[in-house]
Amino acid sequence: MRTHGAGTLRSSNDGDEVLLAGWVAKRRDHGGVVFLDLRDRSGVCQVVADPSAGEALQAAHDVRTEYVVRVRGSVRVRPDGQANEALASGEVEVAASALEVLSVAQTVPFPIEDGIETDESVRLTHRYVDLRRPALAHRIRVRAQVTSVIRRVMEDHGFLDIETPILTRSTPEGARDFLVPSRLQPRSFYALPQSPQIFKQLLMVAGFERYYQIARCFRDEDLRADRQPEFTQLDIEASFISSDDIYAVCEEMMAAVWDEVLDAQLPTPFPRISYDEAMRRFGSDKPDLRFGMELVDLNEALEGTGVGVFKGVLDAGGSVVALCVSGGGDMTRKQFDSWTDFAKRRGAKGLAWGVVEDDGSLRSPLAKFMEDAEVKRILSAAEADPGDAIFFGAGETTFARELMGALRVAVASERGLLDDLPEEDRWRFVWVTDWPMFEWDGDADRWDAMHHPFTAPAEPGFADDPGAAKALAYDLALNGTELGGGSIRIHDRGMQETVFSLLGISAEEADERFGFLLRGLSYGAPPHGGIAFGIDRIVMLLTGAASLRDVIPFPKTQSGGDPMTDAPAPVDTPQLSELGLRILPPPVKG
Ligand code: AMO
Ligand code: AMP
Repeated sequence: MRTHGAGTLRSSNDGDEVLLAGWVAKRRDHGGVVFLDLRDRSGVCQVVADPSAGEALQAAHDVRTEYVVRVRGSVRVRPDGQANEALASGEVEVAASALEVLSVAQTVPFPIEDGIETDESVRLTHRYVDLRRPALAHRIRVRAQVTSVIRRVMEDHGFLDIETPILTRSTPEGARDFLVPSRLQPRSFYALPQSPQIFKQLLMVAGFERYYQIARCFRDEDLRADRQPEFTQLDIEASFISSDDIYAVCEEMMAAVWDEVLDAQLPTPFPRISYDEAMRRFGSDKPDLRFGMELVDLNEALEGTGVGVFKGVLDAGGSVVALCVSGGGDMTRKQFDSWTDFAKRRGAKGLAWGVVEDDGSLRSPLAKFMEDAEVKRILSAAEADPGDAIFFGAGETTFARELMGALRVAVASERGLLDDLPEEDRWRFVWVTDWPMFEWDGDADRWDAMHHPFTAPAEPGFADDPGAAKALAYDLALNGTELGGGSIRIHDRGMQETVFSLLGISAEEADERFGFLLRGLSYGAPPHGGIAFGIDRIVMLLTGAASLRDVIPFPKTQSGGDPMTDAPAPVDTPQLSELGLRILPPPVKG
Protein backbone atom coordinates (compact mmCIF):
# COMPACT_ATOMS: atom_id res chain seq x y z
CA MET A 1 0.00 0.00 0.00
CA ARG A 2 2.91 2.35 0.61
CA THR A 3 6.63 2.48 0.04
CA HIS A 4 7.88 4.81 2.77
CA GLY A 5 6.98 6.27 6.14
CA ALA A 6 6.25 9.99 5.75
CA GLY A 7 8.59 10.92 8.59
CA THR A 8 11.50 8.91 7.19
CA LEU A 9 12.06 10.89 3.97
CA ARG A 10 15.37 12.76 3.70
CA SER A 11 17.35 14.60 1.04
CA SER A 12 18.91 11.24 0.15
CA ASN A 13 15.47 10.29 -1.23
CA ASP A 14 15.62 13.15 -3.74
CA GLY A 15 13.98 12.00 -6.98
CA ASP A 16 12.42 8.84 -5.50
CA GLU A 17 8.89 7.91 -6.59
CA VAL A 18 7.02 7.17 -3.36
CA LEU A 19 3.64 6.03 -2.13
CA LEU A 20 2.65 7.46 1.26
CA ALA A 21 -0.44 6.80 3.35
CA GLY A 22 -1.61 8.58 6.48
CA TRP A 23 -3.66 11.37 7.99
CA VAL A 24 -3.93 14.95 6.78
CA ALA A 25 -2.49 16.82 9.75
CA LYS A 26 -2.72 20.25 8.12
CA ARG A 27 -3.94 21.68 4.86
CA ARG A 28 -2.90 25.08 3.51
CA ASP A 29 -4.87 25.95 0.40
CA HIS A 30 -3.41 28.73 -1.75
CA GLY A 31 -5.82 28.10 -4.62
CA GLY A 32 -3.33 27.10 -7.30
CA VAL A 33 -1.19 25.20 -4.82
CA VAL A 34 -2.25 23.07 -1.85
CA PHE A 35 0.18 22.01 0.89
CA LEU A 36 -0.72 19.02 3.02
CA ASP A 37 1.15 17.82 6.10
CA LEU A 38 0.82 14.07 5.91
CA ARG A 39 1.19 12.27 9.24
CA ASP A 40 1.74 8.57 9.85
CA ARG A 41 3.33 6.82 12.77
CA SER A 42 6.85 7.62 11.56
CA GLY A 43 6.21 11.38 11.55
CA VAL A 44 5.13 14.11 9.16
CA CYS A 45 6.08 15.10 5.61
CA GLN A 46 4.88 17.97 3.45
CA VAL A 47 3.00 17.07 0.28
CA VAL A 48 2.56 19.67 -2.47
CA ALA A 49 -0.14 19.60 -5.13
CA ASP A 50 0.26 22.27 -7.82
CA PRO A 51 -1.34 22.62 -11.28
CA SER A 52 1.09 20.05 -12.68
CA ALA A 53 -0.54 17.53 -10.32
CA GLY A 54 -3.71 17.47 -12.43
CA GLU A 55 -6.57 15.70 -10.65
CA ALA A 56 -4.51 15.41 -7.50
CA LEU A 57 -4.77 19.19 -7.07
CA GLN A 58 -8.58 19.04 -7.05
CA ALA A 59 -8.47 16.09 -4.66
CA ALA A 60 -6.14 18.06 -2.36
CA HIS A 61 -8.61 20.98 -2.42
CA ASP A 62 -11.34 18.64 -1.26
CA VAL A 63 -9.63 16.82 1.62
CA ARG A 64 -10.01 18.02 5.20
CA THR A 65 -7.87 17.52 8.28
CA GLU A 66 -7.73 13.97 9.61
CA TYR A 67 -8.89 12.46 6.32
CA VAL A 68 -6.90 9.32 5.62
CA VAL A 69 -5.27 9.53 2.21
CA ARG A 70 -2.81 7.80 -0.06
CA VAL A 71 -0.44 9.93 -2.07
CA ARG A 72 1.74 9.06 -5.03
CA GLY A 73 4.51 11.51 -5.81
CA SER A 74 8.16 12.23 -6.15
CA VAL A 75 10.47 13.43 -3.44
CA ARG A 76 12.28 16.69 -4.07
CA VAL A 77 14.64 18.76 -1.98
CA ARG A 78 12.98 22.02 -0.96
CA PRO A 79 14.45 25.20 -2.43
CA ASP A 80 17.18 26.95 -0.43
CA GLY A 81 15.89 28.67 2.70
CA GLN A 82 12.57 26.81 2.66
CA ALA A 83 13.57 23.80 4.74
CA ASN A 84 11.39 23.30 7.84
CA GLU A 85 13.67 22.69 10.79
CA ALA A 86 10.77 21.62 13.00
CA LEU A 87 10.28 18.48 10.89
CA ALA A 88 12.73 15.61 10.61
CA SER A 89 11.72 15.37 6.95
CA GLY A 90 11.85 19.17 6.65
CA GLU A 91 14.52 19.26 3.94
CA VAL A 92 12.24 17.60 1.41
CA GLU A 93 8.65 17.56 0.17
CA VAL A 94 6.64 15.23 -2.00
CA ALA A 95 5.24 16.59 -5.26
CA ALA A 96 1.92 14.75 -5.58
CA SER A 97 0.87 13.13 -8.84
CA ALA A 98 -2.13 11.25 -7.42
CA LEU A 99 -4.16 11.52 -4.21
CA GLU A 100 -6.75 8.99 -3.11
CA VAL A 101 -9.06 9.42 -0.11
CA LEU A 102 -9.12 6.19 1.93
CA SER A 103 -11.37 7.47 4.67
CA VAL A 104 -13.16 10.73 5.43
CA ALA A 105 -13.20 12.29 8.91
CA GLN A 106 -15.64 14.52 10.73
CA THR A 107 -14.22 17.64 12.31
CA VAL A 108 -12.24 16.32 15.29
CA PRO A 109 -13.44 17.48 18.74
CA PHE A 110 -10.11 19.15 19.53
CA PRO A 111 -7.00 19.98 17.53
CA ILE A 112 -4.33 17.29 17.33
CA GLU A 113 -1.56 19.29 18.91
CA ASP A 114 0.43 19.17 22.09
CA GLY A 115 -0.21 21.69 24.84
CA ILE A 116 -3.89 22.22 23.98
CA GLU A 117 -6.31 23.20 26.72
CA THR A 118 -9.07 20.65 26.30
CA ASP A 119 -11.20 19.24 29.05
CA GLU A 120 -9.80 15.85 30.01
CA SER A 121 -13.16 14.11 29.84
CA VAL A 122 -13.54 15.26 26.20
CA ARG A 123 -10.07 13.93 25.44
CA LEU A 124 -10.82 10.61 27.14
CA THR A 125 -14.20 10.28 25.39
CA HIS A 126 -12.33 10.48 22.08
CA ARG A 127 -9.17 8.81 23.26
CA TYR A 128 -8.46 7.38 19.76
CA VAL A 129 -8.14 10.99 18.56
CA ASP A 130 -6.27 12.09 21.68
CA LEU A 131 -3.73 9.31 21.14
CA ARG A 132 -2.79 10.91 17.80
CA ARG A 133 -1.20 13.82 19.68
CA PRO A 134 2.57 13.47 19.33
CA ALA A 135 3.50 13.77 23.04
CA LEU A 136 0.93 11.21 24.10
CA ALA A 137 1.77 8.83 21.28
CA HIS A 138 5.44 9.18 22.24
CA ARG A 139 4.69 8.10 25.82
CA ILE A 140 2.85 5.02 24.64
CA ARG A 141 5.83 4.13 22.45
CA VAL A 142 8.22 4.65 25.39
CA ARG A 143 6.02 2.29 27.36
CA ALA A 144 6.51 -0.43 24.75
CA GLN A 145 10.24 0.28 24.72
CA VAL A 146 10.36 -0.11 28.52
CA THR A 147 8.60 -3.47 28.55
CA SER A 148 10.78 -4.66 25.71
CA VAL A 149 14.00 -3.83 27.59
CA ILE A 150 12.58 -5.37 30.76
CA ARG A 151 11.82 -8.63 28.98
CA ARG A 152 15.30 -8.73 27.49
CA VAL A 153 17.06 -8.21 30.84
CA MET A 154 14.78 -10.64 32.67
CA GLU A 155 15.29 -13.32 30.06
CA ASP A 156 19.07 -12.74 29.98
CA HIS A 157 19.01 -13.64 33.67
CA GLY A 158 16.97 -16.78 33.19
CA PHE A 159 13.65 -15.45 34.49
CA LEU A 160 10.63 -17.24 33.05
CA ASP A 161 7.52 -15.32 31.98
CA ILE A 162 4.62 -17.11 33.68
CA GLU A 163 0.98 -15.99 33.80
CA THR A 164 -1.16 -16.08 36.93
CA PRO A 165 -4.96 -15.93 37.13
CA ILE A 166 -7.07 -12.78 36.95
CA LEU A 167 -10.19 -14.51 38.27
CA THR A 168 -8.98 -15.59 41.69
CA ARG A 169 -9.27 -15.10 45.42
CA SER A 170 -8.25 -12.02 47.31
CA THR A 171 -4.51 -11.32 47.34
CA PRO A 172 -4.24 -8.64 49.98
CA GLU A 173 -2.04 -5.60 49.34
CA GLY A 174 -3.92 -3.21 51.59
CA ALA A 175 -6.63 -2.05 49.16
CA ARG A 176 -10.21 -3.13 48.55
CA ASP A 177 -10.82 -5.98 46.11
CA PHE A 178 -12.73 -5.74 42.86
CA LEU A 179 -15.23 -8.58 42.87
CA VAL A 180 -16.64 -10.58 39.96
CA PRO A 181 -19.82 -12.59 40.60
CA SER A 182 -19.82 -16.20 39.47
CA ARG A 183 -22.68 -17.51 37.30
CA LEU A 184 -21.82 -21.17 37.71
CA GLN A 185 -21.58 -20.81 41.47
CA PRO A 186 -24.24 -18.22 42.27
CA ARG A 187 -23.67 -16.08 45.38
CA SER A 188 -19.92 -16.67 45.10
CA PHE A 189 -17.38 -14.16 43.87
CA TYR A 190 -13.96 -14.09 42.34
CA ALA A 191 -11.62 -11.30 43.41
CA LEU A 192 -9.36 -9.65 40.87
CA PRO A 193 -5.74 -9.86 42.07
CA GLN A 194 -4.27 -6.83 43.83
CA SER A 195 -0.99 -8.43 42.81
CA PRO A 196 0.17 -11.94 41.83
CA GLN A 197 1.91 -12.19 45.23
CA ILE A 198 0.68 -15.56 46.49
CA PHE A 199 0.80 -17.21 43.07
CA LYS A 200 4.38 -16.19 42.47
CA GLN A 201 5.35 -17.61 45.86
CA LEU A 202 3.61 -20.87 44.97
CA LEU A 203 5.55 -20.90 41.67
CA MET A 204 8.69 -20.90 43.84
CA VAL A 205 7.29 -23.83 45.83
CA ALA A 206 6.69 -25.48 42.44
CA GLY A 207 10.39 -25.12 41.63
CA PHE A 208 10.56 -22.55 38.82
CA GLU A 209 13.17 -20.56 40.79
CA ARG A 210 13.01 -17.45 38.60
CA TYR A 211 9.67 -15.93 37.60
CA TYR A 212 8.64 -12.64 36.11
CA GLN A 213 5.44 -11.28 34.68
CA ILE A 214 4.21 -8.01 33.31
CA ALA A 215 1.05 -8.30 35.32
CA ARG A 216 -2.16 -6.34 35.48
CA CYS A 217 -3.19 -5.59 39.07
CA PHE A 218 -6.49 -4.28 40.40
CA ARG A 219 -7.00 -2.19 43.52
CA ASP A 220 -10.20 -0.48 44.50
CA GLU A 221 -8.74 2.55 46.24
CA ASP A 222 -9.14 6.29 45.98
CA LEU A 223 -7.44 7.51 42.85
CA ARG A 224 -4.63 10.04 42.74
CA ALA A 225 -2.30 11.26 40.03
CA ASP A 226 0.01 8.33 40.74
CA ARG A 227 -2.66 5.68 41.26
CA GLN A 228 -5.04 3.88 38.92
CA PRO A 229 -7.56 1.14 39.83
CA GLU A 230 -5.93 -1.14 37.27
CA PHE A 231 -2.24 -0.78 36.66
CA THR A 232 0.70 -2.84 35.50
CA GLN A 233 3.48 -4.31 37.57
CA LEU A 234 6.75 -5.82 36.61
CA ASP A 235 6.48 -8.68 39.07
CA ILE A 236 9.57 -10.69 40.01
CA GLU A 237 10.24 -13.64 42.31
CA ALA A 238 13.30 -15.84 42.77
CA SER A 239 14.45 -18.70 44.99
CA PHE A 240 17.75 -19.24 46.82
CA ILE A 241 18.61 -15.53 46.63
CA SER A 242 19.32 -12.68 49.04
CA SER A 243 18.11 -9.11 48.81
CA ASP A 244 21.49 -8.16 47.31
CA ASP A 245 20.75 -10.44 44.33
CA ILE A 246 17.40 -8.67 43.81
CA TYR A 247 19.07 -5.25 44.02
CA ALA A 248 21.67 -6.23 41.43
CA VAL A 249 19.18 -7.45 38.81
CA CYS A 250 16.89 -4.47 39.33
CA GLU A 251 19.76 -2.00 39.06
CA GLU A 252 20.92 -3.58 35.83
CA MET A 253 17.37 -3.40 34.50
CA MET A 254 16.81 0.25 35.43
CA ALA A 255 20.18 1.17 33.94
CA ALA A 256 19.27 -0.66 30.70
CA VAL A 257 15.88 1.10 30.52
CA TRP A 258 17.36 4.56 31.13
CA ASP A 259 20.12 3.91 28.63
CA GLU A 260 17.74 2.70 25.95
CA VAL A 261 15.02 5.32 26.40
CA LEU A 262 16.95 8.44 27.43
CA ASP A 263 20.53 7.55 26.59
CA ALA A 264 21.23 8.35 30.26
CA GLN A 265 23.89 6.43 32.16
CA LEU A 266 22.78 5.59 35.70
CA PRO A 267 25.56 5.04 38.22
CA THR A 268 25.13 1.67 39.94
CA PRO A 269 24.91 0.31 42.56
CA PHE A 270 22.15 2.62 43.80
CA PRO A 271 22.64 4.08 47.28
CA ARG A 272 20.80 2.45 50.19
CA ILE A 273 19.28 4.10 53.20
CA SER A 274 17.47 2.51 56.11
CA TYR A 275 13.83 3.36 56.68
CA ASP A 276 14.69 4.96 60.03
CA GLU A 277 17.36 7.14 58.50
CA ALA A 278 15.11 8.15 55.60
CA MET A 279 12.40 9.22 58.04
CA ARG A 280 14.87 11.11 60.23
CA ARG A 281 16.72 12.94 57.46
CA PHE A 282 13.98 13.38 54.87
CA GLY A 283 10.69 12.79 56.70
CA SER A 284 9.71 10.32 53.99
CA ASP A 285 9.93 6.60 53.21
CA LYS A 286 10.57 7.57 49.57
CA PRO A 287 13.13 10.34 49.97
CA ASP A 288 13.81 12.80 47.19
CA LEU A 289 17.62 13.02 47.02
CA ARG A 290 17.80 15.51 44.16
CA PHE A 291 18.51 18.28 46.65
CA GLY A 292 19.83 18.60 50.21
CA MET A 293 17.86 20.61 52.77
CA GLU A 294 17.73 17.73 55.24
CA LEU A 295 15.54 17.81 58.33
CA VAL A 296 17.15 18.47 61.69
CA ASP A 297 15.95 17.12 65.00
CA LEU A 298 16.01 19.95 67.57
CA ASN A 299 15.08 17.96 70.69
CA GLU A 300 18.54 18.34 72.20
CA ALA A 301 18.99 21.99 71.25
CA LEU A 302 15.63 22.80 72.81
CA GLU A 303 16.22 21.15 76.16
CA GLY A 304 14.65 23.34 78.84
CA THR A 305 13.04 25.61 76.24
CA GLY A 306 10.71 28.40 77.26
CA VAL A 307 8.66 28.15 74.08
CA GLY A 308 5.33 26.75 75.25
CA VAL A 309 4.34 24.75 72.14
CA PHE A 310 7.78 23.15 71.93
CA LYS A 311 7.97 22.36 75.63
CA GLY A 312 4.54 20.73 75.59
CA VAL A 313 5.47 18.52 72.68
CA LEU A 314 8.87 17.55 74.11
CA ASP A 315 7.39 16.73 77.51
CA ALA A 316 4.88 14.48 75.77
CA GLY A 317 7.70 12.54 74.09
CA GLY A 318 7.32 14.16 70.66
CA SER A 319 9.84 16.00 68.51
CA VAL A 320 10.57 19.43 67.16
CA VAL A 321 11.87 19.11 63.62
CA ALA A 322 13.55 21.96 61.77
CA LEU A 323 13.94 22.68 58.07
CA CYS A 324 16.57 25.27 57.18
CA VAL A 325 15.96 27.04 53.86
CA SER A 326 19.17 28.53 52.56
CA GLY A 327 18.55 32.17 51.58
CA GLY A 328 14.93 31.75 52.70
CA GLY A 329 15.07 35.06 54.58
CA ASP A 330 13.73 36.65 51.38
CA MET A 331 10.32 35.10 51.99
CA THR A 332 7.55 37.53 52.87
CA ARG A 333 5.28 37.35 55.88
CA LYS A 334 2.52 36.30 53.50
CA GLN A 335 4.62 33.39 52.22
CA PHE A 336 5.39 32.23 55.76
CA ASP A 337 1.66 32.39 56.48
CA SER A 338 0.86 30.31 53.43
CA TRP A 339 3.37 27.63 54.50
CA THR A 340 1.67 27.67 57.89
CA ASP A 341 -1.62 27.00 56.10
CA PHE A 342 0.11 24.18 54.18
CA ALA A 343 1.00 22.60 57.55
CA LYS A 344 -2.49 23.11 58.95
CA ARG A 345 -4.08 21.46 55.90
CA ARG A 346 -1.96 18.43 56.79
CA GLY A 347 -3.36 18.35 60.29
CA ALA A 348 -0.66 20.33 62.13
CA LYS A 349 -1.67 22.75 64.86
CA GLY A 350 0.74 25.30 63.47
CA LEU A 351 4.14 25.90 61.96
CA ALA A 352 6.71 28.18 63.50
CA TRP A 353 9.37 30.00 61.51
CA GLY A 354 12.30 32.34 61.96
CA VAL A 355 14.77 34.27 59.85
CA VAL A 356 18.45 34.51 60.79
CA GLU A 357 19.51 38.18 60.93
CA ASP A 358 22.99 39.45 60.08
CA ASP A 359 23.89 39.70 63.78
CA GLY A 360 23.03 36.03 64.32
CA SER A 361 19.74 36.73 66.09
CA LEU A 362 16.48 35.12 65.07
CA ARG A 363 13.57 37.21 63.78
CA SER A 364 10.54 35.13 64.69
CA PRO A 365 7.17 35.37 66.42
CA LEU A 366 8.72 32.98 68.97
CA ALA A 367 11.97 34.91 69.50
CA LYS A 368 10.78 36.61 72.67
CA PHE A 369 10.49 33.22 74.38
CA MET A 370 14.03 32.14 73.44
CA GLU A 371 17.28 32.79 75.30
CA ASP A 372 20.30 33.84 73.19
CA ALA A 373 22.06 30.60 74.06
CA GLU A 374 19.09 28.58 72.86
CA VAL A 375 19.00 30.49 69.55
CA LYS A 376 22.72 29.73 69.14
CA ARG A 377 22.13 26.03 69.75
CA ILE A 378 19.28 26.00 67.21
CA LEU A 379 21.31 27.77 64.52
CA SER A 380 24.25 25.51 65.08
CA ALA A 381 22.13 22.33 64.95
CA ALA A 382 20.34 23.52 61.80
CA GLU A 383 23.59 24.85 60.29
CA ALA A 384 21.72 28.10 59.60
CA ASP A 385 23.51 31.25 58.42
CA PRO A 386 22.39 34.86 58.22
CA GLY A 387 19.78 35.24 55.49
CA ASP A 388 18.43 31.69 55.98
CA ALA A 389 14.93 30.82 57.13
CA ILE A 390 14.11 28.02 59.55
CA PHE A 391 10.74 26.27 59.83
CA PHE A 392 9.88 24.43 63.05
CA GLY A 393 7.33 21.63 63.20
CA ALA A 394 6.43 20.23 66.61
CA GLY A 395 4.35 17.16 67.26
CA GLU A 396 4.31 13.39 67.62
CA THR A 397 7.66 12.33 66.14
CA THR A 398 6.51 10.47 63.00
CA PHE A 399 3.83 13.06 62.31
CA ALA A 400 6.29 15.96 62.68
CA ARG A 401 8.86 14.26 60.45
CA GLU A 402 6.36 13.49 57.69
CA LEU A 403 4.95 17.00 57.86
CA MET A 404 8.38 18.59 57.57
CA GLY A 405 9.31 16.07 54.86
CA ALA A 406 6.32 17.19 52.80
CA LEU A 407 7.23 20.84 53.48
CA ARG A 408 10.82 20.14 52.39
CA VAL A 409 9.69 18.92 48.97
CA ALA A 410 7.08 21.65 48.49
CA VAL A 411 9.47 24.46 49.47
CA ALA A 412 12.21 23.03 47.22
CA SER A 413 9.83 22.91 44.29
CA GLU A 414 8.46 26.41 44.94
CA ARG A 415 11.97 27.87 45.24
CA GLY A 416 13.11 26.30 41.97
CA LEU A 417 15.55 23.83 43.53
CA LEU A 418 14.31 21.16 41.13
CA ASP A 419 14.81 23.26 37.99
CA ASP A 420 17.87 22.88 35.79
CA LEU A 421 19.36 20.11 37.90
CA PRO A 422 22.88 19.02 37.02
CA GLU A 423 22.96 15.73 35.10
CA GLU A 424 24.09 13.73 38.14
CA ASP A 425 21.07 14.88 40.15
CA ARG A 426 18.41 14.27 37.49
CA TRP A 427 17.73 10.65 38.46
CA ARG A 428 18.28 9.86 42.12
CA PHE A 429 17.42 6.25 42.77
CA VAL A 430 17.64 4.98 46.33
CA TRP A 431 16.87 1.68 48.04
CA VAL A 432 15.00 2.09 51.31
CA THR A 433 15.82 -0.91 53.50
CA ASP A 434 15.22 -2.30 57.01
CA TRP A 435 11.53 -1.50 57.20
CA PRO A 436 9.62 -2.06 60.38
CA MET A 437 7.76 -5.37 60.20
CA PHE A 438 4.52 -4.01 61.67
CA GLU A 439 2.75 -0.78 62.44
CA TRP A 440 0.16 -0.43 65.16
CA ASP A 441 -3.41 0.20 64.02
CA GLY A 442 -4.95 1.99 67.00
CA ASP A 443 -8.48 1.95 65.54
CA ALA A 444 -8.52 -1.81 64.93
CA ASP A 445 -6.40 -2.45 68.05
CA ARG A 446 -3.97 -4.76 66.25
CA TRP A 447 -0.74 -4.85 64.27
CA ASP A 448 -0.73 -4.25 60.52
CA ALA A 449 1.91 -5.58 58.16
CA MET A 450 3.97 -2.66 56.91
CA HIS A 451 4.69 -4.38 53.56
CA HIS A 452 2.43 -7.42 53.37
CA PRO A 453 1.82 -10.43 55.64
CA PHE A 454 4.21 -12.69 53.67
CA THR A 455 7.33 -10.64 54.41
CA ALA A 456 10.07 -12.32 56.44
CA PRO A 457 11.33 -10.79 59.69
CA ALA A 458 14.99 -9.84 59.99
CA GLU A 459 15.28 -11.69 63.33
CA PRO A 460 13.51 -14.85 64.54
CA GLY A 461 12.46 -13.21 67.86
CA PHE A 462 10.13 -10.76 66.13
CA ALA A 463 7.01 -11.90 67.96
CA ASP A 464 8.37 -10.85 71.39
CA ASP A 465 8.42 -7.16 70.48
CA PRO A 466 6.52 -6.70 67.22
CA GLY A 467 6.81 -2.90 67.36
CA ALA A 468 10.62 -3.09 67.25
CA ALA A 469 10.88 -5.89 64.69
CA LYS A 470 12.47 -5.14 61.34
CA ALA A 471 11.51 -6.87 58.11
CA LEU A 472 13.61 -8.06 55.18
CA ALA A 473 11.75 -5.56 53.02
CA TYR A 474 12.97 -2.97 50.56
CA ASP A 475 11.54 -0.26 48.33
CA LEU A 476 13.11 1.45 45.36
CA ALA A 477 12.39 5.18 45.24
CA LEU A 478 13.22 7.60 42.44
CA ASN A 479 13.12 11.37 42.88
CA GLY A 480 10.64 11.09 45.74
CA THR A 481 8.34 8.53 44.08
CA GLU A 482 8.02 4.90 45.12
CA LEU A 483 8.76 2.83 42.02
CA GLY A 484 8.63 -0.58 43.58
CA GLY A 485 8.79 -2.67 46.69
CA GLY A 486 9.47 -6.21 47.72
CA SER A 487 10.86 -8.48 50.37
CA ILE A 488 12.35 -11.80 51.29
CA ARG A 489 9.35 -14.01 52.13
CA ILE A 490 8.43 -16.29 54.93
CA HIS A 491 8.97 -19.85 53.69
CA ASP A 492 8.16 -21.60 56.95
CA ARG A 493 4.54 -22.47 57.64
CA GLY A 494 4.83 -22.04 61.41
CA MET A 495 6.33 -18.58 61.07
CA GLN A 496 3.63 -17.59 58.59
CA GLU A 497 0.98 -18.72 61.08
CA THR A 498 2.62 -16.67 63.84
CA VAL A 499 2.52 -13.56 61.65
CA PHE A 500 -1.13 -14.12 60.77
CA SER A 501 -1.99 -14.41 64.44
CA LEU A 502 -0.09 -11.19 65.29
CA LEU A 503 -2.13 -9.50 62.57
CA GLY A 504 -5.29 -10.58 64.34
CA ILE A 505 -6.12 -13.28 61.78
CA SER A 506 -7.44 -16.33 63.62
CA ALA A 507 -6.31 -19.83 62.69
CA GLU A 508 -9.74 -20.54 61.14
CA GLU A 509 -9.69 -17.33 59.11
CA ALA A 510 -6.08 -17.97 58.02
CA ASP A 511 -7.07 -21.42 56.86
CA GLU A 512 -10.15 -20.10 55.09
CA ARG A 513 -8.37 -17.25 53.28
CA PHE A 514 -4.81 -18.51 52.89
CA GLY A 515 -5.04 -22.27 53.45
CA PHE A 516 -3.70 -22.91 49.94
CA LEU A 517 -0.58 -20.87 50.71
CA LEU A 518 -0.06 -22.49 54.12
CA ARG A 519 -0.41 -25.95 52.62
CA GLY A 520 1.99 -24.96 49.84
CA LEU A 521 4.55 -23.88 52.43
CA SER A 522 4.36 -27.26 54.08
CA TYR A 523 5.34 -29.22 50.95
CA GLY A 524 8.97 -28.13 50.66
CA ALA A 525 9.17 -24.36 50.13
CA PRO A 526 12.56 -22.94 49.10
CA PRO A 527 13.79 -19.67 50.63
CA HIS A 528 12.60 -17.00 48.20
CA GLY A 529 11.94 -13.33 47.69
CA GLY A 530 11.07 -10.79 45.07
CA ILE A 531 9.85 -7.36 44.17
CA ALA A 532 7.30 -5.55 41.99
CA PHE A 533 7.61 -2.25 40.14
CA GLY A 534 4.87 0.00 38.87
CA ILE A 535 5.49 0.12 35.12
CA ASP A 536 3.09 3.04 34.74
CA ARG A 537 5.08 4.98 37.32
CA ILE A 538 8.38 4.17 35.61
CA VAL A 539 7.04 5.47 32.29
CA MET A 540 5.53 8.52 34.00
CA LEU A 541 8.91 9.52 35.44
CA LEU A 542 10.85 8.68 32.27
CA THR A 543 8.59 10.87 30.14
CA GLY A 544 8.02 13.64 32.68
CA ALA A 545 4.26 13.04 32.54
CA ALA A 546 2.19 14.72 35.26
CA SER A 547 -0.23 11.85 35.73
CA LEU A 548 -0.48 8.09 35.23
CA ARG A 549 -3.39 8.86 32.91
CA ASP A 550 -0.86 10.27 30.45
CA VAL A 551 1.05 7.01 30.13
CA ILE A 552 -1.88 4.57 29.99
CA PRO A 553 -3.58 4.21 26.60
CA PHE A 554 -7.10 3.90 28.01
CA PRO A 555 -7.04 5.12 31.62
CA LYS A 556 -9.77 5.69 34.20
CA THR A 557 -10.83 9.11 35.46
CA GLN A 558 -10.69 10.28 39.06
CA SER A 559 -14.07 8.63 39.70
CA GLY A 560 -12.89 5.33 38.25
CA GLY A 561 -14.83 5.64 35.00
CA ASP A 562 -13.95 5.44 31.33
CA PRO A 563 -15.84 8.18 29.45
CA MET A 564 -15.18 6.43 26.12
CA THR A 565 -16.88 3.09 26.88
CA ASP A 566 -18.96 4.53 29.71
CA ALA A 567 -17.73 1.81 32.04
CA PRO A 568 -18.80 1.02 34.69
CA ALA A 569 -22.39 0.62 33.51
CA PRO A 570 -25.62 -0.82 34.90
CA VAL A 571 -26.65 -4.30 33.76
CA ASP A 572 -30.16 -5.53 33.09
CA THR A 573 -32.23 -7.62 35.46
CA PRO A 574 -32.03 -10.96 33.58
CA GLN A 575 -28.25 -10.79 33.63
CA LEU A 576 -28.31 -10.07 37.36
CA SER A 577 -30.77 -12.92 38.03
CA GLU A 578 -28.48 -15.32 36.24
CA LEU A 579 -25.82 -14.36 38.74
CA GLY A 580 -28.22 -14.61 41.67
CA LEU A 581 -27.95 -10.86 42.31
CA ARG A 582 -30.43 -8.07 42.98
CA ILE A 583 -29.67 -4.34 43.18
CA LEU A 584 -30.66 -2.66 46.44
CA PRO A 585 -32.15 0.82 46.28
CA PRO A 586 -29.59 3.52 47.12
CA PRO A 587 -29.30 4.16 50.87
CA VAL A 588 -31.48 7.02 52.12
CA LYS A 589 -29.27 9.99 53.03
CA GLY A 590 -29.34 11.75 56.40
P1 AMO B 1 3.24 -2.89 46.21
O1 AMO B 1 1.85 -2.90 46.75
O2 AMO B 1 4.25 -2.01 46.88
O3 AMO B 1 3.88 -4.34 46.27
O4 AMO B 1 3.18 -2.53 44.67
C1 AMO B 1 4.36 -2.47 43.88
C2 AMO B 1 4.37 -1.24 43.01
O5 AMO B 1 3.20 -1.17 42.20
C3 AMO B 1 2.89 0.20 41.94
N1 AMO B 1 1.50 0.48 42.35
C4 AMO B 1 0.63 1.21 41.65
N2 AMO B 1 0.75 1.86 40.48
C5 AMO B 1 -0.33 2.51 40.00
N3 AMO B 1 -1.52 2.54 40.60
C6 AMO B 1 -1.71 1.90 41.77
N4 AMO B 1 -2.92 1.92 42.37
C7 AMO B 1 -0.60 1.21 42.36
N5 AMO B 1 -0.42 0.48 43.49
C8 AMO B 1 0.86 0.05 43.46
C9 AMO B 1 3.87 1.04 42.73
C10 AMO B 1 4.35 0.07 43.78
O6 AMO B 1 5.64 0.40 44.21
N6 AMO B 1 3.24 -7.92 45.84
C11 AMO B 1 4.01 -6.76 46.25
C12 AMO B 1 5.39 -6.77 45.65
C13 AMO B 1 6.31 -7.80 46.25
O7 AMO B 1 6.37 -7.90 47.49
O8 AMO B 1 7.00 -8.48 45.46
C14 AMO B 1 3.28 -5.50 45.81
O9 AMO B 1 2.32 -5.52 45.07
O10 AMO B 1 4.92 1.45 41.89
P1 AMP C 1 -0.17 29.25 69.57
O1 AMP C 1 0.37 29.03 70.94
O2 AMP C 1 -1.08 28.18 69.06
O3 AMP C 1 -0.71 30.67 69.35
O4 AMP C 1 1.10 29.18 68.61
C1 AMP C 1 2.22 30.01 68.78
C2 AMP C 1 3.12 29.87 67.58
O5 AMP C 1 3.58 28.53 67.49
C3 AMP C 1 2.43 30.17 66.27
O6 AMP C 1 3.37 30.78 65.42
C4 AMP C 1 2.03 28.80 65.78
O7 AMP C 1 1.95 28.76 64.35
C5 AMP C 1 3.19 27.98 66.27
N1 AMP C 1 2.79 26.59 66.49
C6 AMP C 1 1.66 26.13 67.07
N2 AMP C 1 1.64 24.77 67.07
C7 AMP C 1 2.79 24.39 66.49
C8 AMP C 1 3.38 23.14 66.17
N3 AMP C 1 2.77 21.98 66.47
N4 AMP C 1 4.58 23.13 65.57
C9 AMP C 1 5.20 24.27 65.25
N5 AMP C 1 4.71 25.47 65.53
C10 AMP C 1 3.52 25.55 66.13
